[in-house]
Amino acid sequence: MEKLRIMSVFGTRPEAIKMAPLVRELARRPDLESLCCVTAQHRQMLDSVLEVFALKPDMDLDIMTPSQTLSTITTKCLTGMDGAIDALRPDMILVHGDTSTTFAGALSAFYHRVPVGHVEAGLRTYDKYSPYPEEMNRKLVTAIADLFFCPTENNRRNLAREGVAEGVFVTGNTVIDALKTTVTENYHFTTDVLNRLPYDSKKILLVTCHRRENYGAPMENIMSALADIARSREDAELVYPVHLSPAVQACAQKHLAGIPNVHLTAPLAADEMHNLMARCYLVLTDSGGLQEEAPALGKPVLVLRRETERPEAVEAGTVKLAGVDRERIVSMATELLSDSAAYAAMAHAANPYGDGLACRRIADAILWHFGRGPKPEDFRT
Ligand code: UD1
Ligand code: UDP
Repeated sequence: MEKLRIMSVFGTRPEAIKMAPLVRELARRPDLESLCCVTAQHRQMLDSVLEVFALKPDMDLDIMTPSQTLSTITTKCLTGMDGAIDALRPDMILVHGDTSTTFAGALSAFYHRVPVGHVEAGLRTYDKYSPYPEEMNRKLVTAIADLFFCPTENNRRNLAREGVAEGVFVTGNTVIDALKTTVTENYHFTTDVLNRLPYDSKKILLVTCHRRENYGAPMENIMSALADIARSREDAELVYPVHLSPAVQACAQKHLAGIPNVHLTAPLAADEMHNLMARCYLVLTDSGGLQEEAPALGKPVLVLRRETERPEAVEAGTVKLAGVDRERIVSMATELLSDSAAYAAMAHAANPYGDGLACRRIADAILWHFGRGPKPEDFRT
């Protein structure tokens, strides 16, 4: 029997981190040929992930431009995908999550009548503009996809409410699979400032912020709050690997440059980031991926957003929504820095997002779909 050609499409840092273990798992299956097409919606931040996970794409659309608009990303992806599908002739295309690459990749697959598997399906806020444009991207991909790989039971319920019940699997999130390969004891950082941080004598606060709906006033509030926290807490050191988006870079520099206990760094390689997270005290972030990783490492998270499509760790008590109000962020961070009982109540490991076997379940589900294997059991917490 001929091998089934499964083409994974991704373009940004988080998609790459979450698809890397799956690309490898597919390659291990004798019945499958694992193909990889990157849009390079992110150039440097994608290349860093490809290097960490030793992935060599079969096709690179190289679409990134500085300060790109949503329309340019989508149109360049669509045009590039025509050539990739013609050249690689996939039997199925896998897209991940909710970026512009995800949406354009799925739409292009549909135009070519290639079935689509959606990895990280079923996340919702039910607010069209938050996160923007991700909430709409994932809903549009739901309309196109044939297989749905939900990280959690809650995600599956979201799809069921929308009438999507066929081809739905609860697999866990592949980010936990990735995390299991990157975090090691006695890890030595290549970014030297991270080796010199006072992990034992001070509280390390790990910060990231990049969401488009936070651009403008919300991001100004967030950065002002971070500056307030750093200036008022000599017992804390803030480490902030700044996203390469020019809008984010400008805001971070304006509010945080020159504060002695704030370290603004370039984006970190995924293994560095994961090992730094494993050693930090607290995470402050608007990132989706960090909300999933930190609970697995037992690190409390304050989410710098008004809502989250990841309520599971909030329910488990390790994540709190801090919002985008300056005073509220400062007061919530101060409580966790000052009140050891409040901190202890959040600082316990929780794994609502996976057990490290998501990629295995997804590969099994693909084989089942094509009649080449048994149906996998769902992931349960
Ligand atoms: C994108 C995704 C968002 C995801 C985020 C992860 C969309 C619309 N947004 O947002 O869902 O959470 O990635 O980080 O798909 N840049 C570089 N080099 C890089 C990466 C980015 O210079 O390696 C700069 C470029 O100027 C680029 C800009 O950042 O134009 C913004 O990148 P873009 O992919 O458009 O949006 P993100 O905010 O990164
Ligand atoms: N990450 C990284 N280096 C950094 C910042 C984040 O490797 O400097 C990782 C992080 O651990 C997670 C992913 O990138 O796996 C999250 O990406 P991002 O926050 O850009 O996007 P989101 O998850 O919000 O879509």
